[in-house]
Amino acid sequence: MADPRRTEFQPTATWYEDADKYWKGVPSSVDGMLGGLEEVHAPDIRDSMAFIDRLRKNPSLSFGSSYACDCGAGIGRVTKYFLSTRFEKVDLVEQNSAFLEAAASSYLKDERNAGRVCDMFPVGLQKFVPQKSRYDVIWCQWVLSHLTDSDLAACLKRCVQGLAPGGIICIKENVASRGYVLDSEDSSVTRAKSLFESVFAAAGLVVVDQMIQTDFPQGLFEVNMWALKPSSDN
Ligand SMILES: C[S@@+](CC[C@H](N)C(=O)[O-])C[C@H]1O[C@@H](n2cnc3c(N)ncnc32)[C@H](O)[C@@H]1O
Repeated sequence: MADPRRTEFQPTATWYEDADKYWKGVPSSVDGMLGGLEEVHAPDIRDSMAFIDRLRKNPSLSFGSSYACDCGAGIGRVTKYFLSTRFEKVDLVEQNSAFLEAAASSYLKDERNAGRVCDMFPVGLQKFVPQKSRYDVIWCQWVLSHLTDSDLAACLKRCVQGLAPGGIICIKENVASRGYVLDSEDSSVTRAKSLFESVFAAAGLVVVDQMIQTDFPQGLFEVNMWALKPSSDN
């Protein structure tokens, strides 16, 4: 059988449209966000909190707790259970406007009314331009597999411009044991850690800490969290 792992990744001509079509067919629910694996929700949130709390204690970091950005937010699961508990305000970036409508009208209604959830940007990360110096933390989770390598590097460079002084970018993504693993169903690519890390370096980012997700069911990709800061902050 052919090994689906590749050493090169050539996106199809309809790469973004295909992903958009796929996500438009997914229900606006936690189950939809997690591909039917709702049991990963609790350990996911627990370990994300442990990671940010560890970063908070890192003497080489000084990010604030005012403003976070949830990239590839979906209906706002990560914002609701994690980011809004650690940051005063959160913005959401999401390509599928139906998910943001569900967030605004029901899932994040209380957080919005309380002023903890602010802007919701219905745009793909390949086009998103954050406001300059706005965010203490830009959190990207389970979305960067939808970007091509060049768009990923360009997106991260724009995110650097969106960081407040001392701000960091956190990335939580599935990782392949090697190479690129393509999924034509949702038009995504799972990258090996080394491939992610070479894009981070190309975007002018250095890894300050990382953690592997624990307690997920067997048979899934490993999930890694990275904290990145601009190399110019050193
Ligand atoms: C696996 S879900 C994860 C949602 C959320 N991060 C979570 O963990 O609950 C992937 C999300 O990425 C969004 N997405 C896919 N391609 C995107 C893109 N190019 N830019 C922004 N969001 C995108 C999908 O619409 C979907 O909401």
